Amino acid sequence: MHNNPSHVNYGFQYGEERPPAFAPGYPTAYPPAPQYTNRAPEPINTHHTATAGLPHTTVRRKGSRCKCLCITAAVVIIILILLGVAAVLLWYFLYGVCTLGRRCGQSNTCVRSSQWCDGVTDCPKGEDEAQCLYGVCTLGRKCGQNNKCVLSSQWCDGVTDCPEGEDEAQCFRFYGADFMLQSFSNEDQKWKVVCSDRWDSNIGKRACQQIGYSSSNYVNSGTINPGSVAADGYMTLNADYLALSSDPVHNSLSSSASCPTNEAVTLRCSDCGKSSALATRIVGGNVVTTTSRWPWQVSLQVSGNHMCGGSIITPSWIVTAAHCVQKYSSPSQWRVYAGFLTLTQMSYSSGNLVSEVISHSGYNTDTSTNDIALMKLRTPLQFSSSIAPVCLPNSGLDFSTSRTYYVTGWGATSNGGFASNDLREAQVSLISNTVCNSQQVYNGQITDSMICAGKLEGGVDSCQGDSGGPLVTSQSYLWWLVGDTSWGQGCAIRNRPGVYGNVTLFLDWIYTQMKKY
Ligand code: ARG
Repeated sequence: MHNNPSHVNYGFQYGEERPPAFAPGYPTAYPPAPQYTNRAPEPINTHHTATAGLPHTTVRRKGSRCKCLCITAAVVIIILILLGVAAVLLWYFLYGVCTLGRRCGQSNTCVRSSQWCDGVTDCPKGEDEAQCLYGVCTLGRKCGQNNKCVLSSQWCDGVTDCPEGEDEAQCFRFYGADFMLQSFSNEDQKWKVVCSDRWDSNIGKRACQQIGYSSSNYVNSGTINPGSVAADGYMTLNADYLALSSDPVHNSLSSSASCPTNEAVTLRCSDCGKSSALATRIVGGNVVTTTSRWPWQVSLQVSGNHMCGGSIITPSWIVTAAHCVQKYSSPSQWRVYAGFLTLTQMSYSSGNLVSEVISHSGYNTDTSTNDIALMKLRTPLQFSSSIAPVCLPNSGLDFSTSRTYYVTGWGATSNGGFASNDLREAQVSLISNTVCNSQQVYNGQITDSMICAGKLEGGVDSCQGDSGGPLVTSQSYLWWLVGDTSWGQGCAIRNRPGVYGNVTLFLDWIYTQMKKY
């Protein structure tokens, strides 16, 4: 066990969660630039039968001779033009020269030189924007998956600059286990707590909606002494905020050093993280005997077969792994089972239908980077003590290696074994990315979007069939989703711990999808 904190939750870290500047195969948000298709050159009529060859008339007038010359000249010009066009086409197809611009990598698409590094992706794979300034978005931040770079000063300024609005989408975040609301101040480029002055539950509902939650699940707005979290000052509601009731709440907040109430807003958009499991004394590899222990755990099935695990985050949304939905990407193939302990019990039930399967567009099958996906249920779940959401990881929580973590699922109990009929849980430790990337462990295969957990000595681990399921920890009597089960070499082997998606880095993506669908 490594006791020094190595994975502190820094919350939204714009830029860090973004995928590499250019990864071949990422779908871009743009339609591909017009392609030069292989059109055959138009046939040239060499047997020109225009007026040139009119039969001679017996009487020749001066005027007719001139007319004849003009026509001949016109025909010659037309022929020359056609020959010119044919020559250019021939030259283009023979030599493949991209005359007016630059070629997009190895593809046939030619993009005008003026469109390179202009912040708009024109090449089908984004080559025109990928290598600007050595591939780094130095002056700003990247708009999600596409290559557009928007100036930092344009983020959360009330004006949409990213093609999909990423720069204005997530200007709120939750801080700490008390769900202190923070708003991004464009002026100071800092997250600041929101002053409780003028705040009410109507505004709270609107803020929840703007984050990505549905206002029908709104829990409450409260106040709290922010202590040192307010060291950078507050964001305070402007006096005219009610008049702008359809505007983003964020646009009615201004940066201010003081706050009349000296209290910060806490906002609960989801009644999450409650479990009967508060004693954390169970050592890995146990059968779970109460449905209220891990009420967010679901089984994701195709044709009655358990494929993967998942975690309930709202009545309509399940977090799982992207690799789980790679082969079965159609919502109609899936059934979601919530509130069960055994696969047998599920086989007598019909499960919940899925309306949307959303895989992270930056998921890379080779490296397993960004291995996260969302499923939206056709009908929202009815929450109970056995069906309830886990909390998404707020910013400022402590996810250090000294804490206790749990993984749960119906996965195999030995490498290559069958799925377990019973839901099982295992207590694991977080392993720092430095240790996990060391030569004896995964030798550099762990990216920022991954977290390792397990036991380096082996013996306790998640396994095949646990994928997509939760890696959780409890803090302040609530349970937080730290990771989604992604991969591992074998199961429970020494120096081969489980690898999980780093949910904190996907918060922005998750909230954006929840808002969109
Ligand atoms: N990829 C596996 C799945 O689809 C999960 C593997 C986890 N492996 C591990 N050693 N923890 O279920």
